[in-house]
Amino acid sequence: MAEKQVDVMEKIVSLCKRRGFVFPSSEIYGGFAAVYDFGPYGVELAKNIREIWWKYMVQLREDIVGLDSAIFMHPKIWEASGHVAGFSDPLAECKNCHTRVRVDHLLEEIGVLADEKMTEAQINMLLVENKEKILCPKCGKRDFTEAKSFNLLVQSNLGNFTGDWTKEPTYLRGETCQGIYVNYKNVLDSSRVKVPFGIAQIGKAFRNEITARQFIFRTRELEQMEMQYFTKPEMEMDEYEKLRAYRWQFYLDMGIKEGHLRWHKHENLVFYAKEAYDIEYEFPFGFKELEGVHARGDYDLTQHAKFSGVSLDYLDPVSNEKYVPHIIESSVGVGRMFLAFLTEAYREEALEGGDTRIVLKLPKKLAPVKVAVFPLMKNKPELVAKAKEVFDALKGDFMCEFDDNGNVGKRYRRQDEIGTPYCVTVDFDSLEDGAVTVRDRDSMQQERIKIDALYGYLQGKF
Ligand code: GAP
Repeated sequence: MAEKQVDVMEKIVSLCKRRGFVFPSSEIYGGFAAVYDFGPYGVELAKNIREIWWKYMVQLREDIVGLDSAIFMHPKIWEASGHVAGFSDPLAECKNCHTRVRVDHLLEEIGVLADEKMTEAQINMLLVENKEKILCPKCGKRDFTEAKSFNLLVQSNLGNFTGDWTKEPTYLRGETCQGIYVNYKNVLDSSRVKVPFGIAQIGKAFRNEITARQFIFRTRELEQMEMQYFTKPEMEMDEYEKLRAYRWQFYLDMGIKEGHLRWHKHENLVFYAKEAYDIEYEFPFGFKELEGVHARGDYDLTQHAKFSGVSLDYLDPVSNEKYVPHIIESSVGVGRMFLAFLTEAYREEALEGGDTRIVLKLPKKLAPVKVAVFPLMKNKPELVAKAKEVFDALKGDFMCEFDDNGNVGKRYRRQDEIGTPYCVTVDFDSLEDGAVTVRDRDSMQQERIKIDALYGYLQGKF
């Protein structure tokens, strides 16, 4: 990893902690690997990400409806889906310091094409061939055990009171889409949808990820935003191309530079996939998967029909044709999108006088706080009262923050660091002329706007 890029990642991690975007889980207990908490601004950004995704995937689409299925499901679902047998990553252990590593990632780092979809034998062959080049990330030695497939499903004792639940575990879901497949018939029978149609869902998923690295890029508790689209078999690949284009455009609409995105076609397909592409984003540690867009064929519905004994055939109401719909999906993690948007937005800008400002140039719709309202001085009650009046008039429609700490310059820097598009200052002139100063985050230009016109002015900006 280039030094400059490591530097950017460290700066983003530090900003996230300093400004309350992301905290390591259970920090006062020394942390809990690969689990993170969203702080006050992080929770706002994550909420805005969910909302914009929902808007694109449900609100703007007359052919897609929403769902919120439970995290816990019948354990047979995970057998039917193939996860109990095949949802695994290749794990090896350093014989010297016992650090567990993901072999496909270590191979990838030395430029050898490998992934979690390869068989144990394929991975071990590559491990042996490259054994002189692969170093333990902790102790630097070159001596590893054979790679073994390690299942990523997280087990639980829900509903099992026998004291030995490991024999018949229930699972915390490994992906949200299984909840969609098992509700496909319910949605079909209870709503106006007809094939082709989609079901979208946002929710938590859990994976026993082997390596805990790269901040919120790969976590053991994650939140997925997934949309599963049910098509006529012969239309699957046409719909797949449309979905790929739609998801690509989403990132451009979110202000991501096209040069920071690329498609990666999977050579080794997971057990369910017919064709699979990732949208990769150029994170500070290089191009990595941001979102998966997969053509899953009839695998999912066929498996669930087989394991449940319930027919999941679709009867076309016009042609009377009966078939198992094929599925295409789009799947992305909230945390991963969060990190991509922060990376894209993070800037250090040189100011006149030699200072530097850190600014998050987030699209306005994603900014955690839309408008910050300041009284010029906090010890002047008439300024504070007027600023509170302005704040109260805006807060119903804009996420606002009232800030009277430190001098105005410091408040601007703080708001820049969290990406607030507009800062409104009430000064002594405001008491005379009924106007405030509005400062734009990106241009840093300031404008005097009458308080009476402020609401309309800001509405026009968003
Ligand atoms: N239903 C298909 C599915 O789950 P996936 O490629 O395993 O496919 C889809 O995951 C997306 O979920 C990824 O592109 C990524 O955005 C997110 N994701 C997966 N594992 C993750 C993890 N451990 N931490 C954060 N995000 C993750």
